[in-house]
Amino acid sequence: MDDKKIIFSGIQPTGCITLGNYLGALKNWVNLQKDYNCIFSVVDLHSITVRQDPTELRKRCMSFLMQYLACGIDGEENIVYFQSHVSAHAELSWILNCYTYMGELSRMTQFKDKSSKHADNINAGLFTYPVLMAADILLYQTDLVPVGIDQKQHLELCCDIAKRFNGVYGDVFKIPQGYIPKEGARVMSLQDPTSKMSKSDPNVNGFISILDDADTIRRKFKRAVTDSDGEIAYREGKDGINNLLSIYSAITNQTIDESVNEFAGLGYGVFKERVAEAVIEELRPVREKYDELSKNKDYIKQIYTEGAKRANYLASKTLRKIHRKLGYVDR
Ligand code: AMP
Ligand code: TRP
Repeated sequence: MDDKKIIFSGIQPTGCITLGNYLGALKNWVNLQKDYNCIFSVVDLHSITVRQDPTELRKRCMSFLMQYLACGIDGEENIVYFQSHVSAHAELSWILNCYTYMGELSRMTQFKDKSSKHADNINAGLFTYPVLMAADILLYQTDLVPVGIDQKQHLELCCDIAKRFNGVYGDVFKIPQGYIPKEGARVMSLQDPTSKMSKSDPNVNGFISILDDADTIRRKFKRAVTDSDGEIAYREGKDGINNLLSIYSAITNQTIDESVNEFAGLGYGVFKERVAEAVIEELRPVREKYDELSKNKDYIKQIYTEGAKRANYLASKTLRKIHRKLGYVDR
């Protein structure tokens, strides 16, 4: 590789890729890809902390990878692959488990959330999930991790683990930094704007899939929960309107103030339509590209096979170094 800095990021193949994933993560991956060496993974090992149907999972993994490309990720310039195709993720995860404390993991809010939602399946994987995420990042000596703000706590833990390891063995890992967008870092549900837009929300009106067609997007925004005071302003207590303003600002690359000015004096109906149209236009090329890619499975296979090969090469370099530091006998 040349001397560009390294980006790593991933999305779990559960539910469907939402406008939240897009504005929080994917859009930035696309924007940053020219200036960095990028590694984008469909993190399928992460997804089995919740039970998955095998046939569905296989289909969804393919679909997610195609959606990365459809959003504008260049699969030839960057490394795009399935996490399960590079066994070093699981190996490093085990090693880092031995340098992570139970107390640290039990403070993770995502663990607390998910274990209360899936009380019948609080498995050890759900608990150690942030360690696998740390392994993903540290394997590639990553500089920058573009994610939504919900991953900030996991990233901080990743840095703590890396520093602890480096403290014992010398400079093994690069300490990564997060890249969290100003607007769009936390897109809220259209039906309950006090909670995060979630890709596995059973209420489909709560989220926009990046593959939703124009009519569906229009309908979902029309139904979006707002408030009754009728003023388009960004302030506490106006969660629904705040969310729509953030979405609009993230898409148009303008500040919240600029968006507020643009809509001054308009009613909620027109406002929602304008936000919907902006989202439709943003996602139109994504859907078109996705349809085109769907017809070209051989090309997709070539992308992820080559991606895994390159990822494997880089990951095994880091892993070899770690083995030596730990005191394992050379192969
Ligand atoms: P996940 O859906 O949990 O696999 O998340 C994949 C990426 O999307 C991560 O970078 C998350 O931070 C980001 N993300 C997920 N949901 C949202 C949301 N509602 N708003 C902004 N970013 C999000
Ligand atoms: N944990 C992330 C999420 O749920 C997904 C993820 C796994 C990730 N490994 C990663 C994101 C590495 C960035 C870097 O959103």
